[in-house]
Amino acid sequence: MPSPSKLANSRRAPFFVLEGVDGSGKSTQAHLLAEWYRAAGQPVLLTREPGGTALAERLRGLILDPAIACASRAELMMILAARAQHVAEVIAPAVQGGVTVISDRFSLSTLAYQGYGRGLPLDELRYADAVATGGCCPTLTVVLDIPLDTAFARIGERQDRFEGEGRAFLQRVVEGYRTLGAQEPHVRIIDGAGPVDAVQQAIRNVLGEYALAADQA
Ligand code: TYD
Repeated sequence: MPSPSKLANSRRAPFFVLEGVDGSGKSTQAHLLAEWYRAAGQPVLLTREPGGTALAERLRGLILDPAIACASRAELMMILAARAQHVAEVIAPAVQGGVTVISDRFSLSTLAYQGYGRGLPLDELRYADAVATGGCCPTLTVVLDIPLDTAFARIGERQDRFEGEGRAFLQRVVEGYRTLGAQEPHVRIIDGAGPVDAVQQAIRNVLGEYALAADQA
């Protein structure tokens, strides 16, 4: 069983991201993970995308509002503007200062939603994302994989711009995450359909295995 101190043993702290389709439970899991760090006395910062700064939270309102018309590329630009500010103001300074960052969503969401969901070309998205982040990449991204029916049951009446897109869109996002998880380095997929405690344990195990492999490299 890993411990948070084993996962942050140098001055430059890790940057972990939890990902998954709406309803995958990543926000709950991100909170539990941050609590684990805090309980161990490790400096940790929990944040989210789109969001995490005053500018990005403002943009989040526009990005998620289904009543405001928004072309796919306009949506992308707002998401990336929010990310650029998030990296510059919050993520990079924290990581460089030895604070572990846990973000609820980051770049993989853009590939899954704007790429597989909206159909924008993945190579363009990767390039544009690199412009926004200036090369700031997560240490590890963990995707919580759940069946679409489970996601829909959990989403319930919530209907932001993306949740309101319907089944076919979210199915493409779920499959996009699976494809990306199998291809991308620094991405791991775990089963997010089980009980909360079991999923949390699986996340900690993945983080621990990754830290061990990085130590031995
Ligand atoms: P989230 O905070 O997970 O929604 P909620 O608060 O309803 O749980 O994410 C907001 C939405 O933003 C989500 O439906 C996915 C979308 N999104 C993208 O489409 N691309 C991105 O790059 C990001 C970060 C989010």
